[in-house]
Parts: sequence; structure tokens; C-alpha cells
Amino acid sequence: MSVAGPAGPPRHVVLGVSGGIACYKSCTLARRLTEAGATVDVVLTAAAAEFVRPLTFEALTGRPVLTSLWERGRALAHIHLAKDPDLVIVAPATANVLARAAMGMADDVLTALLLARGDRLILAAPAMNDDMYANPATTANIKTLTQRGWHFVGPEVGALAEGPSERPGRMSEPEAILAAAERLLGGDSPGTRSARSTTSKWSGKRVVVTAGPTREHLDPVRVLTNPSSGRMGYALAEAAQHRGALVALVTGPTELAPPSGLSTTHVETTEEMQRAVQALMTDADALIMSAAPADYRPKTHADKKRPRSAGPLTIELEATPDILGSLKRRKGMVVVGFALETGNGLANARTKMQNKALDFVILNDATEPGAGFEVTTNRVTILGPGGKQVDLPLLPKRDVAERILDVVEEAL
Ligand SMILES: Cc1cc2nc3c(=O)[nH]c(=O)nc-3n(C[C@H](O)[C@H](O)[C@H](O)COP(=O)(O)O)c2cc1C
Repeated sequence: MSVAGPAGPPRHVVLGVSGGIACYKSCTLARRLTEAGATVDVVLTAAAAEFVRPLTFEALTGRPVLTSLWERGRALAHIHLAKDPDLVIVAPATANVLARAAMGMADDVLTALLLARGDRLILAAPAMNDDMYANPATTANIKTLTQRGWHFVGPEVGALAEGPSERPGRMSEPEAILAAAERLLGGDSPGTRSARSTTSKWSGKRVVVTAGPTREHLDPVRVLTNPSSGRMGYALAEAAQHRGALVALVTGPTELAPPSGLSTTHVETTEEMQRAVQALMTDADALIMSAAPADYRPKTHADKKRPRSAGPLTIELEATPDILGSLKRRKGMVVVGFALETGNGLANARTKMQNKALDFVILNDATEPGAGFEVTTNRVTILGPGGKQVDLPLLPKRDVAERILDVVEEAL
């Protein structure tokens, strides 16, 4: 399926536009969606209508634009537009609209629609000043919405209206949003295919990649985690996307900007990662588990910070869910695991491969200089079916990602 399935009926998409400077890119997005064959209904907040006139969207989509709850003759339009479409895209999603949606507010036409949408598909493309994006309030709102099933694309690092920035805030480009929409609808579109390799074995394949660490809370301010940077997983996700795959990235907390054009799900705990992966892999062709999820979590979680004055603390830990062990796999899906070892690596990796029924294991040694966590390079050994073993030299993680995909694609 795609925004416009070649044989099927056109997709119905709502494009919710909130009031950020990136509104001008939403015009292109509306155009691209209609060009791809989708029926596009645009809903503008009052602030968005200050940036771009409804008439522009009306001309681009050929359909009336909804700008208020109080339009005569369209009293229940926000409910119909919540329930009927295949996908609701919010682009740009301002800090304000994310906050109101996270709170469950419904004080204008877009937030009322988003609330009525419930757990149906929503894709948001946040866009805002980098400090607004980095503010813990925005982080918490995005987390809340992710937990309710929202999907996010971007924001990206790059020039903002107020000048250059090295931190995320800039809205993803319309093509990247379209690609993420296609991924969610389970297909590809002419609009995005041209930018990708169509000859690669990865082209059109649905790939789920996990990245980064997870965090398990002891109390509201203390966590058990590990120093995984997420770089290896992000490099794999980007490399697979470059080869034409439809990539869904599930990431624990990292400092990295979300890659452009992927549907990115942010999680914090191992259990959240397990749930997100299970939900995404129902139609996946490949699963690449490069995250370093915490294996243990505190058995109890204090609601309040435990003061230092309370004296020595003994923490009882329990195992977190075994993500690979618990997944219901689709027949024929290629599963790639990572084994981060600190000695006796080959034997442990082979055991992991067998016990978890993995098609490939990528072994790296955390004690080796330049490999493992917190570095931009890695040295890995790839173990594959039939006793296959490929030893790679020390390489930048981007190159390691390419070499891993070269080997794994034989099994696709
Ligand atoms: C010139 C200008 C640019 C703005 N750009 C953004 C932006 O990119 N992202 C954002 O979250 N808010 C931005 N704002 C602030 C929002 O417009 C403001 O928070 C507004 O209340 C958003 O309303 P809405 O979320 O209902 O559309 C901007 C404001 C102005 C005046």
C-alpha cells in the first residue's frame, strides 16, 4: 500500500498545520501528497493561518480548508476528519500544539481533531527553535505522545529561521515527511522512490532498527543505563534507508538528531522498546537489534527521590523483558542481533545466535580500543548462517553499517 496504491483507492490524509515558520514547507507537502494521488484535507490552526492563507492550501489540494470549530455547515468536520482518514500528519507541529495534544486539550479545531483521533495513525513533524525543542517540557510532551502511539519524523539539525544551529529543531523536508508517511502506510511512492536506489536488494524492504541505550528508573531522578551512543544503530538505519529500505527506527535516549525521513519511535525503558518493536515488526522483512537495552531494572521504583541522608542503599534488581526472546516473528524475516562482549566473544556470540535463533550476530568487544560504546569507530565480526564468519577491520561506524548490510542482504 502507498499514499496512492497503484491499484487501490486513493488514500485520505489530513494535513494539520500549526503556526511555525516551517508552514511554507507544508504547502509543498500538500502538493506532494496530492501529486502522489492522496485526497488531502488541510486543517489550519489560527496561528498557521497567520503564516499561510487557507486559500493557498485550497488551491493546492482542491478541497476546502478547515480553520475553525465554528465554521457554518461544518459543525462535525473535526470528528469526521479524525475518524475517516488513513493518516493524520501534523507538519509543522509547534511546541504549543504538542503541549496541548499531550495534555488532551481540544480548544481549537486541530487539537479537537487530534484528541478525537484516539489511537489511529498520527505522524508529527516537530519544528521549532532549538531551545524550545531541547526544553524538558517539549521532551516530556513528545514522550507522552509517543507512548500514546504517535509517530515522529525529525526534527533535524540545520538552519533555523533565526540562524544556523547545531541542534535539532528544523522541520524535516516534505520529501522526508512523505517517505515517513509511506512507511507508516506500508508502502512506497513515486515521489520518494527516485531519491533511492531501486536496484538494491533492500529497496522497498521494511526494516526495523533499534538503537541506543535504555534507562531503568530507581526513582524519579536516578537511572540504570549504559554508555551506548546510538551511533551504530543510527548509521545502520540511515544506510538501509539509502539503499531504498523503508526504515522504522526505535531509539532509546541519545544525543543524536533523529535521522531524516525515517519514522522514529523514542522509548526509554527496555519494556517500552519491546512493545515498540513488536508493534512495528508485524510486517517487517528485517529486524536489526543494535540497541543496548538494559538487562536489569530495579524491582521497585520509588515515587520520590531517596535522600542521601537515608544511608546505604541496597537495590534489588530483576531481569528486564528479553526483547529478542519474546518477539513473535514473521516467517522469513531476517533477524540480526548484536553481541557486545568483554572476552570469550566468539563462543558467547555463537551461543546467542543459537539460543535466540538469529540469522546474523554482529560481535564487538567493549574492551577493544576504538570499538563498542561512545566511539565513532567499531571493529566487528559478522557471524552468519552456515558458520559464515566475516572479520572486519577497525572502521568508522558508517562504513561498518554498509559492510553489515552487504553481508545481511544475501539473506533477504
Ligand atoms: C515569526 C514566528 C515564528 C514562529 N515559529 C515557530 C516555530 O517554528 N515553532 C513553534 O513551535 N512556534 C513558533 N512560533 C510560535 C507559535 O506561533 C506560537 O506558539 C503559537 O501559539 C502556536 O500556535 P498553534 O500551535 O496553535 O499553531 C513562531 C512565532 C512567530 C511570531
